[in-house]
Amino acid sequence: MSPRRKRTAILISGGGSNMRALIEAARDPAYPAEITLVISNRPDAGGLVYAKAAGIAASVVDHKIYAGREEFERSMQALLEIHRIELVCMAGFLRMVTPWFIGQWAGRLLNIHPALLPAFRGLHTHERALAEGVKIHGCTVHFVVPAMDEGPIVAQAAVPVLDSDTPESLGRRVLAQEHIIYPAALARVAGNCVTIQGNRTFDVDPAATPNPMVMPPIVPSDA
Ligand code: GRF
Repeated sequence: MSPRRKRTAILISGGGSNMRALIEAARDPAYPAEITLVISNRPDAGGLVYAKAAGIAASVVDHKIYAGREEFERSMQALLEIHRIELVCMAGFLRMVTPWFIGQWAGRLLNIHPALLPAFRGLHTHERALAEGVKIHGCTVHFVVPAMDEGPIVAQAAVPVLDSDTPESLGRRVLAQEHIIYPAALARVAGNCVTIQGNRTFDVDPAATPNPMVMPPIVPSDA
């Protein structure tokens, strides 16, 4: 019998294209995670409509109505517990989370960042990659730790920078890779295929699990 699928929540703030990629991947009954809850901190997040249409519980926890970050997070935490959530994926969730919240989800909270960490932590990663003149850019899925955009890396994808790139064109190609590596990374975490040691993740059984770091060749065209 295949192991029980992990009950997974996605935290969003906007359109949620990564959320959609995760929901689509989890439609496969063999996928080791099921998306059972989407939480947005913004009532107008486009992703909420998509999640509801997909039959997933979708809730707003509007940070603006709370006195502080902690009250906001306690409300999110209560919702996550009501839904018996086991894993949480941040996908374009534009709120800093506190060490308290991260502590509730140690080793069970993932984030996607639009750069090859540890390069270009923070915002405006595509603009900064172009300004620095790097030839390879990309994206990273990592476990969340209290330091921003740090934490053990689960998967990365590299994207070549083209001479013709603008932040927008580069960002589009990076986003296309995000949609591939986030579902792959969640599958590995939910399937208990990775173990965390210090700041690194390792394959539990390197022979049995395909490594998402080995990406198919990336065609440097504007997808
Ligand atoms: C993505 O680039 C993600 O890496 C970053 O915010 C963006 C969210 O996009 N954290 P979407 O809402 O998933 O479309």
